[in-house]
Amino acid sequence: MSTQSIHYLKPVALCLAPGIPDSPSRHRRHTLPASEFRCLTPEDAASVFEIEREAFISVSGTCPLYLDEIRHFLTLCPELSLGWFQEGRLVAFIIGSLWDEERLTQESLTLHRPGGRTAHLHVLAVHHTFRQQGKGSILLWRYLHHLGSQPTVRRAVLMCEDTLVPFYERFGFYPVGPCAITVGSLAFTELQCSLRSHASLRRNSNC
Ligand SMILES: CC(C)(COP(=O)(O)OP(=O)(O)OC[C@H]1O[C@@H](n2cnc3c(N)ncnc32)[C@H](O)[C@@H]1OP(=O)(O)O)[C@@H](O)C(=O)NCCC(=O)NCCS
Repeated sequence: MSTQSIHYLKPVALCLAPGIPDSPSRHRRHTLPASEFRCLTPEDAASVFEIEREAFISVSGTCPLYLDEIRHFLTLCPELSLGWFQEGRLVAFIIGSLWDEERLTQESLTLHRPGGRTAHLHVLAVHHTFRQQGKGSILLWRYLHHLGSQPTVRRAVLMCEDTLVPFYERFGFYPVGPCAITVGSLAFTELQCSLRSHASLRRNSNC
């Protein structure tokens, strides 16, 4: 899978005020795209984990993917991840892998099954300073369109706490019942989403 289907947002034109010296550091800084969506690489793992640490560990003491697991999935299936970078800084991300059973099991937390037709979304998180600005929604739409362009991937699945079910329902996910996976005392609802509508959206748009 290539990253061809991921496009850049319109970069903001950067211009230099008169009298500001044309230094090499200025060139470096300004070559960073204002806003960019791309699949993640193992080199992004530390930035991913930094966001997870604040989003999950500081709240519940645990998180969906630890550093070695992030590297594991970004090595095995980077095409199932998507990051949003602003001026080179990761502001939001999704990491997924493939799964080949009807429902999630404990094993799905750590495995990537390359022949699977289901994309398992392990984690979606937005850096805390960028939340409630629509970024999580934009990234999830883009991710689902990205999955929809992969003919072998038929549906997406995830588990979340009950409070987030309405958020995911906006994107076509529907609850299929309690998830078999528990993490400590935390219980989750499992949600699925058919990618057929996202595939047709993809065909009909330049997203
Ligand atoms: C959940 C998350 C990804 C949403 O991203 P975001 O950019 O803040 O969300 P958007 O601005 O696109 O959309 C806002 C909507 O998200 C939902 N939402 C965000 N945080 C929520 C929370 N803690 N509980 C319930 N719903 C939440 C709400 O529906 C909200 O809409 P509202 O303001 O009308 O109530 C983000 O808050 C986050 O990273 N949280 C911490 C990590 C996490 O919980 N990830 C989900 C794991 S399943």
